[in-house]
This record gives sequence, C-alpha cells and structure tokens, in this order.
Amino acid sequence: MIDDSSTRIVAALRAWIRDAPAGAQLPSTRSLVREHGAGPVTVQKALRRLIAEGLVESRPGVGTFVRAVRPARGPDLSWQTAALRSPRAQLPRIAAPLQPAPPDAQVLHAGYPDADLLPVRLVRTALGRAARGAGATACPPAQGVGELRAWFAAELADATPAPLSAVTAADVVIAPGSQSALVSVFRALVPPGQPLLVESPTYWGAIQAARQTGVALVPVPVADDGSGPDPADVDRSLRETGARAFYAQPNYANPTGSQWSAARGDEVLAVVRAHGAFLIEDDWAHDFGIDTTARPLAARDDDGHVVYVRSLTKSASPALRVAAVVARGPARDRIVADRVAESMYVSGLLQHAALEVVGDPGWRTHLRRLRTQLRQRRDLLLESLREHAPHLAVDVVPPGGLHLWARLPDGTDVDRLVRACADDGVWVAGGDGWFPAEPSAPYLRLSYIGPEPAGYPSAARVIGRAVGAQALRRP
Ligand SMILES: Cc1ncc(COP(=O)(O)O)c(C=O)c1O
Repeated sequence: MIDDSSTRIVAALRAWIRDAPAGAQLPSTRSLVREHGAGPVTVQKALRRLIAEGLVESRPGVGTFVRAVRPARGPDLSWQTAALRSPRAQLPRIAAPLQPAPPDAQVLHAGYPDADLLPVRLVRTALGRAARGAGATACPPAQGVGELRAWFAAELADATPAPLSAVTAADVVIAPGSQSALVSVFRALVPPGQPLLVESPTYWGAIQAARQTGVALVPVPVADDGSGPDPADVDRSLRETGARAFYAQPNYANPTGSQWSAARGDEVLAVVRAHGAFLIEDDWAHDFGIDTTARPLAARDDDGHVVYVRSLTKSASPALRVAAVVARGPARDRIVADRVAESMYVSGLLQHAALEVVGDPGWRTHLRRLRTQLRQRRDLLLESLREHAPHLAVDVVPPGGLHLWARLPDGTDVDRLVRACADDGVWVAGGDGWFPAEPSAPYLRLSYIGPEPAGYPSAARVIGRAVGAQALRRP
C-alpha cells in the first residue's frame, strides 16, 4: 500500500518538476501529506526516490528543491587516449563472426553451431552430474583434470602408428577453449616481434591472437585446389625469415574447408623438422568430418615438433569452454607456465562436465548424427549457390568443417556486398578478415551451421542479387 501511494506521489511530483524552474522549492512534507492523503513515511519515501533519480535535492532544515538541469554528457575519459597511446595492433572490437544478427536474419556468418547441431540434452545432463561430484567445487590441477587429459591423450594415441611413441596425459594441458590455447602457444613459442608462419587465408582468431601477442605474421599461400601449402613455400619462408613456428590447420581449414593429404602432411612435417621448427596444428574441426575423417599430424610426430590444439567447444557446447594443448618437452613446460600466468586453471566443473559428455555413449551417437546433418546442410547451401548465385565460385567442396569459401567476381566491394545482404536479412562474412596481409581476391565465408537451413535457397538468391547488382555498376 505504501508502495502504491509513494509511486503515485512520485508520478505527480515528476510532472510538477517537469514544469518547474531549476531551484524551485517543492511543497512541504506537511502539505504533500495533506494533498495526497498519505502518511509522512510514504511522502518521505517518494522524496528519497526523486533524490536518488537526481531530480531534486534536499537542503536539511530548509526544504527540497528542483535540481539545476545539467547538460546530459558522459564522464570525461579523454585522458585515457594519452595514457594508452597507440594499441599494439588494430583489432576489431568484435570480429565479424561474433556479431549478433537480428532474430529474423538468415545467419551464414557465425562460427558456432546452432543448438540443433549440438547435444544439448547430453550437455545439460553432464553439467548436472558434474555439479554433484566432488571435483565440481574443488580447485583442479593447473594442467587440468587427470582423467580429461588422459581422454585427449588416448584419442591422439589411438591414431598414432605403432613405431611411434604415443603421447600420454602428462603431455596434455587443458585450456578454456582453443582461442585461449592459441594465445598461450604463440606466447610460449614465439617471442614478441619474431616471425610466425601462417597459411593464407587462415583463421581470423589466430591472426588476432598473433597480433595481440606481438608476433610478426608471415603468410604462406595455400593452393586454390584445397591441397594446402606448398612444402617448397614453407621451406623458403622458414629459411628466409628464420621463423621457428608454423601455425596451420591440416584438417578442414577455416575458412577453405580443405584437408591436406597424408603425403602433404608428411612433406610439410619433414620441412618443419629440417628447420628445427614447430608446427602448431589447430585441429579445431576434429569432430566435423563429412566425407573423410580428421587425420591429426600430431599422431605422426613423436619428437615434439607438433604442438596440437583440439577443442570441444564447437562440437559439444559453446558453454563447455574446454580444449587441450598437446606438446612435449620444454615447449609443454613453457605452455603450462603461460597458462598458469594467464588463469591458473580451468573451472573443474566444466572439465568434469566435458569428461561426462565425451564418456557418454550418446557422444558417439551425436558425432554420427552431426556428420549427416553437416553433409545435408553443406550440400543444400552448395546447390543453392550454384542455382541462385552463379557468379560465386566455390573451388573446394569441403570434405569437412563448417564453412564454404566462395570467391567473388574480381572488383567486388566486399564490405558493401556484406551490408547489402544484411539489409536483405542475410548475414554473411566478408573474407578479408581471414587474410594475414592483403586479400588475394574478394571472398565470402559462408557457414552452414546457423538456424533454419531451409532458408538457404532464398539466402542464395539474396547473395546472387547483391553480387549481380555490383557487377552491373562496374564499368
Ligand atoms: C580454426 C579455429 N581455431 C580455433 C577456434 C577457437 O575455438 P574455441 O576457442 O571455441 O575452441 C576457432 C573458432 O572459430 C577456429 O575456427
């Protein structure tokens, strides 16, 4: 009751204040009590609220007054410009694939799969089970929960041919997602200012991580036919720059979707070995094979040249930010030290939940179902583009992964195209962000993991129209 009356008095006084000049004195408490038929406690409560809103001020012993209106301006933060100086690297505040689209948009730009592609029930149950276990509330070891490390090690060991010595749990470090893992690996293996070879194009997040850690990127082109980088180029770049590390995605690369052949992997590994360098293998799409299965290069190396990164966030749940870095020797020790400096440990609750997920028979069922879903979505998007956006060239039908890499006609203004599509309700990612230097050509990266795949044909029509409209305007 008091609340209702005080709200009524606040509303009446707000209207009064609106018409009153700055400095005007409000009626006394006694007259407000009389006017509104309320008790003094209720009136005081209403006045306190107006004071908290900054509309009036109380001068003890004198009364309550309308505050002088101040121009609505925020705090002065300009001093930060001088304090911060220029950033080490110009990074977009939020990269294109992380931009939220309006609810009714057709999403072809996102990097994380829609709930329809994820084992949501399995993850919920796993979180519940993990929450009930003792490990959920304990401080886990810095390198990660032992059983989870053993699971990642066993997965890689299963793929390791007999003469090679397989990795063990001791070689595994748990990180909160592979993005964070990449930052640690770059920091641990490449001193600031030193060169790091990367494929071109390559994952935008790796480019940003390298820039943020002050590493100098050295692009190595990948072939349009999906065969990966030319080992001769890798050899020349390592020799010319003196780089000691090469970041690469041999399986279902983001953005091209290509997978190196086993022979290509061996050739590149031989070059890396010959230079006494590291291959930082980002096996982000390990669970996203469609026509083939991922072949980790790390399984073909037992002398510590491959530092392997493998995540569960995309195939299990974005909420389960759990990934593994597999490395041997001093490289592993440096990565552990970096992880500890960065965040000490990854939440035990999440690690135990991840363990519950991958240990459940439903995990295998999910991966089998996912393969079929990805194939259907990839093929539908490809067919839709071929039919409705014939100016786009998709050179590689990706044997796995989550994206198509589509080349646009030369001269296309990619940013304008992206905006035109978004205006028509279709969110696509311009390809420029996947190039560590200047883009070699205009591209779009189109992911087939958003909601409503039935909308692909009409989305392709929108893209086709936008590409056609630009072509007409070009001389
Ligand atoms: C190639 C690649 N590596 C790493 C990541 C980071 O994944 P997460 O941090 O979710 O494990 C992504 C995400 O898009 C990716 O595409």
